[in-house]
Amino acid sequence: MTPSKKSNRRMNDYDLVIGGSSEIGLSIIKKLAYNGRNVLYTYHHNASAVTEIEAWTKGKPKRTIAIKIDIRSAQDVECLVSYIASKKMRISSLIYNAGLTNDMLFRMMSEEDFSSVMDVNLYGCFRICKALIDNLAVHRGSIVFISSVSGMTGKIGQVNYSCSKAGLIALCRNLALEYASVGLRVNCIAPGFIKTKMLDKIPEENMKIMKKNIPLKRIGSPLDVANAVYFLVSEESGYITGQTLVVDGGLLMR
Ligand SMILES: NC(=O)c1ccc[n+]([C@@H]2O[C@H](COP(=O)([O-])OP(=O)(O)OC[C@H]3O[C@@H](n4cnc5c(N)ncnc54)[C@H](OP(=O)(O)O)[C@@H]3O)[C@@H](O)[C@H]2O)c1
Repeated sequence: MTPSKKSNRRMNDYDLVIGGSSEIGLSIIKKLAYNGRNVLYTYHHNASAVTEIEAWTKGKPKRTIAIKIDIRSAQDVECLVSYIASKKMRISSLIYNAGLTNDMLFRMMSEEDFSSVMDVNLYGCFRICKALIDNLAVHRGSIVFISSVSGMTGKIGQVNYSCSKAGLIALCRNLALEYASVGLRVNCIAPGFIKTKMLDKIPEENMKIMKKNIPLKRIGSPLDVANAVYFLVSEESGYITGQTLVVDGGLLMR
């Protein structure tokens, strides 16, 4: 066995987390920063997440920088790219975590209900990849999309969400193929049930049944997802590209 390759990270290397203000996003930022990486992250409405990260990073050497953007806006994406250029940042990894749900049965779903979810979950990812992929490709970076098991199966009431998350998996495979020759890796993570506010609405009784159905007998934590992200952006996963890593306690096997 040979020791792992020494990291050749630079002072101005940043991981970029789009949708850093969610519970999973916060966990990803903390995991990356805790492991000595600088993190640039975006939020949309949730400014309290920025306060939380600022309090958490106080006195720690690594930098975290927050930027407010609406990923649906091409102008906001342009501003983010200009900021990155003005600070001479090298984006070593891009983590696309922004997401939106608007569940309803297909017969109730309007085109607007469909496209508004696609706009954030899939087109937003396309937009930011278009804007930054050259920056990432130049120094053989890594891209990770947060998809969902909903993008690999069907779920009643989730036509819009499921299509957007399946789209991320397809986008991942295609970009992985097109950019493999320059050493840029692109992978997906498909979380199952993760303990976030999203699950707070589910009655305790139903939660018990859900847990029973999960082979590992527990709901996942945001850290379970963050650990997978850290693996996929680190050099330890240097021979992995175009893959979807399912983080669901074994649920999808059933
Ligand atoms: N929780 C789960 O069980 C689960 C399971 C599978 C997959 N996922 C996926 O994991 C990711 C994180 O989930 P979560 O539950 O922690 O997230 P969440 O609470 O749904 O938050 C999503 C993130 O997306 C951002 N966002 C939403 N609309 C945006 C827009 N127009 N422009 C820019 N950013 C926008 C939000 O920003 P603000 O909060 O600042 O507005 C937030 O940071 C999502 O992609 C979700 O689909 C979650």
